[in-house]
Amino acid sequence: METNSKTLKQNLRFKLPVFLIVSEILWLGTGALGFPVWWQIEFVSFAFVGLLLFLLLDMPSLKPETRSSQSTFRIIGAYAFPTILFITLTAQLPQFDPKYDVPPPVVDNFSEYTSKESIEAGRQVFESNKCFNCHRVFWEGNSDRGPNLGTKQIGLYSWDYIKEQIVDPRKKQSPGFDDPKSKLAMPDYYGEDLNENELNALVAYLRTLRDPTHIPVEGKFPDQWTWWDDKQIVEEGKLVFEGKEPETEGLNCAVCHGADGIPMMTGAFDFRNPNNPDTKKMPDHMDVTLKDFPDALYYKRVTRGVDETPMAPWGTIFPHLYLWKAEAYSRTFHDPLDKRTAKKPVPPIPTKEEIEGWKKDGLFLDPLL
Ligand code: HEC
Ligand code: HEC
Repeated sequence: METNSKTLKQNLRFKLPVFLIVSEILWLGTGALGFPVWWQIEFVSFAFVGLLLFLLLDMPSLKPETRSSQSTFRIIGAYAFPTILFITLTAQLPQFDPKYDVPPPVVDNFSEYTSKESIEAGRQVFESNKCFNCHRVFWEGNSDRGPNLGTKQIGLYSWDYIKEQIVDPRKKQSPGFDDPKSKLAMPDYYGEDLNENELNALVAYLRTLRDPTHIPVEGKFPDQWTWWDDKQIVEEGKLVFEGKEPETEGLNCAVCHGADGIPMMTGAFDFRNPNNPDTKKMPDHMDVTLKDFPDALYYKRVTRGVDETPMAPWGTIFPHLYLWKAEAYSRTFHDPLDKRTAKKPVPPIPTKEEIEGWKKDGLFLDPLL
């Protein structure tokens, strides 16, 4: 036994350089792999604990115990000392704070908006900030104090608009939420509570909230209405249709379909005739006429176009927010707003299975415009 023990100096001569080399490799390696600095410190600390252990193994053995109290003391010492050391050291490390522990996505250019990581992180921000207490997202959520951000399709709106509504909710009221209680309901402290990364991730998530099978729904549950019957939207849609909307510069439905609904181009669809059938030129042709076009068909034709005709896939170029508006307006040629006796029914909220189906069937255009 005695022959194997070394003095502390002998002991350190070989082990210290090994520890330093191992630490160096750990530090550089974890750094290259993108670990945060506190993790790097943690890895090196583990190597240090290893060094202590190996030093201990080669230390001179203790004298044999003579009394049982002595062994109890040693066991407690061996247990208590590392425990205290460990707690003292780890207490110096930054403590868990959910505010900073959300994955920090970098969302600063268009292609990043749709990155899976940003969207996932944004959903966590949505959950942890209790947005679900006032906002449903399609079928999920706890109350209808604020708009259902799924059926409203907040994802159709621009990045800046959504951000502004979160940071400064008093700036513009959601349609149908102008009663005094709703006006002040949305907390106005998120701009301070959320850091830039969280805010961007949140917007990235909200931008995915679309429904390719229904036109947006506005208003406070249960007094809701669809864009088909929204006077304001129809007016805005007229601007798009006639090529007067600055956000869709270059798009002018009237050039072909006519400002008064009389087609300017032979073969262009005539919106004045409610009995016009769906085009036969598309493989997914539906046996319906204009007055019964499902929202999904209307939207699909306008965003994807009609193959080999001047009806281009406008949805690959222009923001869908405006295309839905133009569709709402185009309907007025055969069904004028002031002659309607009833509003179109508000569609049922899509189920989880339906939403999965949209993704599977590729109904979303990428990137989201
Ligand atoms: C206490 C209830 C409440 C909470 C919590 C809340 N909101 Fe709201 N929110 C509302 C109400 C009510 C409105 C509609 C009135 C308005 O526009 O301010 C609204 C409006 C909005 C709008 C604008 C919608 C539009 O029509 O343009 C967005 C976006 C929004 N909320 C996002 C969020 C997000 C994100 C969170 C969580 C970080 C959140 N809200 C938390 C009540 C709430
Ligand atoms: C460059 C000319 C042109 C422009 C611009 C244009 N369309 Fe068309 N559109 C057509 C033609 C041509 C057809 C008929 C295609 C066919 O042969 O079936 C058509 C068909 C349609 C149909 C019917 C699709 C079906 O189910 O058969 C709809 C709806 C429609 N257009 C909406 C719009 C809207 C809304 C806009 C503006 C956002 C627009 N179009 C812009 C040329 C145009």
